[in-house]
Amino acid sequence: MSRTVRPAARLRGELRLPGDKSISHRALLFAAIAVGETLIIGAGDGHDVRSTAGVIGALGAEVERLPAAPDDAPGTARWRVRSPGRDGLRAVAGGGGLDCGNSGTTMRLGAGLVAGITGTHRLDGDASLRRRPMGRVLEPLRAMGVAASGGGRDTAPLEITGGGLKGISWSPATPSAQVKGCVLIAGLAATGETIYTEPIATRDHSERMLVARGAALTREVRADGGAVVTLRPGALRAIPTVHVPGDPSSATFWLVAASLHPDADLTIRGVSLNPTRRHAIDLLRRMGANIDETPRADDGSGEPIGDLRVRSAALHGAAISPADVALAIDEIPALSLAAACATGETTIRGAGELRAKESDRIAGIADGLTALGLVAHVNGDDLSFPGGGRPVGGAPEARGDHRLAMTFAIAAAVGAAPVEIDDEGSAAVSYPTFFADLERVAGGVA
Ligand code: S3P
Repeated sequence: MSRTVRPAARLRGELRLPGDKSISHRALLFAAIAVGETLIIGAGDGHDVRSTAGVIGALGAEVERLPAAPDDAPGTARWRVRSPGRDGLRAVAGGGGLDCGNSGTTMRLGAGLVAGITGTHRLDGDASLRRRPMGRVLEPLRAMGVAASGGGRDTAPLEITGGGLKGISWSPATPSAQVKGCVLIAGLAATGETIYTEPIATRDHSERMLVARGAALTREVRADGGAVVTLRPGALRAIPTVHVPGDPSSATFWLVAASLHPDADLTIRGVSLNPTRRHAIDLLRRMGANIDETPRADDGSGEPIGDLRVRSAALHGAAISPADVALAIDEIPALSLAAACATGETTIRGAGELRAKESDRIAGIADGLTALGLVAHVNGDDLSFPGGGRPVGGAPEARGDHRLAMTFAIAAAVGAAPVEIDDEGSAAVSYPTFFADLERVAGGVA
């Protein structure tokens, strides 16, 4: 369904965001691997996380959605998972197999999970997911001794015959926390050690959460920004209660919106400030953003968390390197809007991985911002923005991609005229309460 978003007179108020998507997926998957019961509080309630809940349920974990408690953040879910442990789960191949929906994380981490469950599994997803590259997880799984195949170009549907894994030493061509998560989850069920070396340290939720569940895992960050993770196989123990902090990728939409709007003061409560996830905050600061951070006591999530306060600022252009892109991969659409409106040029180099997301985000950003009267240039895998623009309204194509839809909605809120969002429902992939939050902080005029 389409939706018209109007310029906001102001952006003011407080926000509590849906639980972090990456942590929510892993909380469910690790609960299924461990024997016992886990209560997950504050999980992101987008379609992607529901896909993971569906997958572990189909594999034989008992997954129950509990009613929200009064203090739960909007857009979050409570799940109770009771599992017999990975060895008690069963293979699923029939009836279309395991449905991963639109979720690359469900499919890639799920591939690592089923590689450790005896039998033949089929994993499938929607048209967008069927186009995304899965060779990056099939190759390490094959190297671990698993029969793993995809369609024509190693795309979904995937067929994976689990069991008989051996540990490997793997270094991916492209930095990817999903590939790392897949290899580590499979490594839990392998014989021998698994060593994963990454050229740029990607989000480390798998490592943190595995250690918290008793895995024999070490992570060494190298001086060049890379990291080496070493894992010995073994069982995980269930954590009785998992708290999921607010999603920093969702927070970025508000950081950009409030920075660009001339009358803005937003406070975002309880966001994960994990060093491997907070890079968009630092990039926006590099562009002149006015963002205060107040750390909060550990809420039991094992993540550093805090409140963010963001106010209007005069943003200026910046040079964003391939290493910056890897650390802010999901935030590039919103940061591109900031870049197109900032004073002076911004370059974003080495963003090719964006073409392998829910849509080709390089094309989606450039075409969408252009449709809004902004200037964006694409040169191979690089983006550049001369800056100094203001969105003048329009009808950009969100390509069914949640992060593009939300970026264009923010462009409407800070722009001069209404924007027609062609697929408002896509925001619900990661942030189901996004439009309600926008209306609230814009004082009901969005
Ligand atoms: C994710 C990792 C990132 C990110 C995705 C979630 C994760 O993908 O884009 O939204 O939870 O591990 P890559 O690691 O493949 O870049």
